[in-house]
Amino acid sequence: MQRWDTSTISIQAAAEAIRQGQLVGMPTETVYGLAGNALDPETVAAIFRAKERPTFDPLIVHTDTPDQALALASSVPREARSLAERFWPGPLTLVLPRRDGLPDLLSAGLDTLALRVPSHPVAQALLEEVGLPLAAPSANRFGRISPTRAEHVIEELGDVPELAGVLDAGSCDVGVESTVVGFPEPGRVVVYRVGATPMEAIRDLVDDVEWVRAADAEDDPALALKGEQSPGMLARHYAPRTPLTLLEEDAPIPTDLKGRTGWLIYDRILDVKGPQEVLSTRRNLSEAATRLFACLRRLDHLGLDQIVAWKVPDRGLGCAINDRLTRAAETT
Ligand code: TXA
Ligand code: MG
Repeated sequence: MQRWDTSTISIQAAAEAIRQGQLVGMPTETVYGLAGNALDPETVAAIFRAKERPTFDPLIVHTDTPDQALALASSVPREARSLAERFWPGPLTLVLPRRDGLPDLLSAGLDTLALRVPSHPVAQALLEEVGLPLAAPSANRFGRISPTRAEHVIEELGDVPELAGVLDAGSCDVGVESTVVGFPEPGRVVVYRVGATPMEAIRDLVDDVEWVRAADAEDDPALALKGEQSPGMLARHYAPRTPLTLLEEDAPIPTDLKGRTGWLIYDRILDVKGPQEVLSTRRNLSEAATRLFACLRRLDHLGLDQIVAWKVPDRGLGCAINDRLTRAAETT
């Protein structure tokens, strides 16, 4: 497995590996993706195998221009078009009716396909060089912490035989995954996954946006039947191996804990025993999002009995951070 830099020669080597049917760790502005040729059914199957991802959970297809992305859809609702114009290239994924002739497994047998145009210069360069749409889920084993550095990809997937290498572009800027938006019926806009494009920014453009929370969908199986649930909305996700307890933003430090505890805090250093990770001493939610997964991963490596985390303010990128922490704290 190669650890490539981001020179033109390395990008050419990565593109060649993808043309040969292999997989590549691709940096994006959100998290690293496990990228392969989206048009080749065997490659798509290899991505599911590598991640140990259930085949009911569909992939996101990446292209280097909005036109190429929308060309993979059989129709594009007006709201989708304005979101694409405003936010692409960038951390937004649109779920649209899929065109015929693409591998079924890409979208797990659904009649919709998730599309995204990443803004990261290395992702852009790779997509342009390879000239193919790339299927790329986050480059972690299913349900685990998403990778925001090349070494996280190696740690998660370094033993996958189909992985030719990782393009090492350092740390991802945004640090949480793209916002996933769908259009289940005319006039309806639904957020399936809160993420790097804040709800507030989407609402600026589209009046009526619903957010289907994972818990809502689990409580109401009918949502899934109506096509309003994203298959990836399983509650437990982004999970460290260490049990994690999530507290409300203003909750006091618990005093009844047993064993070794690590602490994940938004903005201040605590007077406690045990390792602490502070997301942003400047109380900046963007900085907190950038650091979130790496901080969780570091705490998870310490062999602690538990991690205690506090929620961050529930606005902007804070909603995505709280969603990931809530799902990391789920036990089932
Ligand atoms: O930021 C990102 O989106 C990263 C980078 C690598 O682009 N990718 C990523 O992919 O997070 P993944 O596979 O980890 O998450 C894809 C999400 C899942 O929640 C999945 O269920 C949802 O998108 N999704 C994909 N296709 C869908 C579809 N047809 N309908 C509804 N949800 C879909
Ligand atoms: Mg993922």
